[in-house]
Amino acid sequence: MSLFSRRDILVGAAGGALLTLSPSLASATPLRLSAAPGEAGLVVPDGPPTRAWLFNGQAPGPVLRARQGEMLTVEVDNQLPEPTTVHWHGLRVPVEMDGVPYLSQPPIKPGERFTYRLPLEDAGTFWYHPHVNSSEQVGRGLHGLLIVEEPPEVAARLGADREIAWALDDWRLDQQAQIAPFGGFRDKSHGGRFGNVLTVNGTYLTRTDLRAGERVRLRICNVANAQSFHLRFTPFDPWVIALDGHPIAPRRLGDGGLWLGAGQRADLILDVDLDPGASARIIDDAYGPDQAFEVMTWRVSEEPPLRDQPPAPPEALPANPLPAPDLTLARSHKLLFEGGAMGGLQEAMMGGRMMSMRDLAEAGRLWAINGAVPDDIYNAPSLLSFTRGETQLIELENRTAWRHPIHLHGHSFRVLTGEGGSIADADTRDTVLLQPEETARIAFVADNPGKWMLHCHVLEHQASGMMGVVEVS
Ligand code: C2O
Ligand code: CU
Repeated sequence: MSLFSRRDILVGAAGGALLTLSPSLASATPLRLSAAPGEAGLVVPDGPPTRAWLFNGQAPGPVLRARQGEMLTVEVDNQLPEPTTVHWHGLRVPVEMDGVPYLSQPPIKPGERFTYRLPLEDAGTFWYHPHVNSSEQVGRGLHGLLIVEEPPEVAARLGADREIAWALDDWRLDQQAQIAPFGGFRDKSHGGRFGNVLTVNGTYLTRTDLRAGERVRLRICNVANAQSFHLRFTPFDPWVIALDGHPIAPRRLGDGGLWLGAGQRADLILDVDLDPGASARIIDDAYGPDQAFEVMTWRVSEEPPLRDQPPAPPEALPANPLPAPDLTLARSHKLLFEGGAMGGLQEAMMGGRMMSMRDLAEAGRLWAINGAVPDDIYNAPSLLSFTRGETQLIELENRTAWRHPIHLHGHSFRVLTGEGGSIADADTRDTVLLQPEETARIAFVADNPGKWMLHCHVLEHQASGMMGVVEVS
């Protein structure tokens, strides 16, 4: 019998350890993150340890917590056998603190340190991960949640009794529970490096205990290399209160389920309206109902309900201090994403030369943005330039057979819905999930000067060309 397969996951519903939140560090600064090889107990607590790369000895790394308005200082110590950096995904920080090698800083060499100073303008659920050799460094376990808390009196408006934070990950392990080799061609040309073991906070098939009547704030982050999740919480119908850290007017999830592309986050409010002793499961069915599998079991304890009536609906959290885009004055741009298996891309420009798809593939490049492929991914071509302070409206067209969560650094943007979508109805995000053949429109004020990465967060797509630079000056 194969030790792990997605199929086993639905069947093997029992077992799993009680969820414990990763230890959270107080916001006493500076924090220290040390990246080093080590062992993780990914599969079962008493199973074979997995050799991984860890932050402070754990995968995921510690949950970093700080308060909105603070300056967070983190000293990163590289004890890996190769250079690294740390990117603070979703934080709008000065470019030299953004952790992109060469664009922001030289890579941190083995044995060296770098101190990040991060002004926390926005509250919300963010995360951190290296930006050097990302597919392998993130895929070996280097990632963690970064929670920027609202002032307590603001958070209290949600009426939550407690908070749970989950890093959802997808590991590719061999039969000895060791991380499978990186760099496969198929991972680049298809959907990315999919795994065979899904973990929540670094543990496979976990269970969470709930209490009847309680209200939980659930922060979920997709830290997987490639996998998009489509989560169903039935019989619960949680409220969605924030996406990629940014508050929205609370809305019921309803029947649609929750899409979380790689890099995306959601904050939910879950009222436990089940009886004591009941149980439920969170299901992922991103590949359709017949490939649904279990992410997590909920168990409602036998304790008497915390309250008889559900609390009042959660109030909206205040918006983060982002400048409002003005669509009437917007500069319009277009980004066309092409390539990959089953795509129609014939040729593209690389390093100033038109190259056939075959030659590109030989060079390990499978994707193009606006017909261009980076020759050197650490010196990517400039895709767009913006004048600081102006509203930008970008149409993102996915002309491929694959999903692409597209992430922009240094800014958050509004995702317009439909043709005449108004800013007022548009969610704020830093990563937008493009389904195959889907087009999205995003708008934002380019207010953060510098050269910023724009890339697919399927890290194998990024490494094989789906990335570029936008400049704000
Ligand atoms: Cu989460 Cu450019 O990365
Ligand atoms: Cu992609």
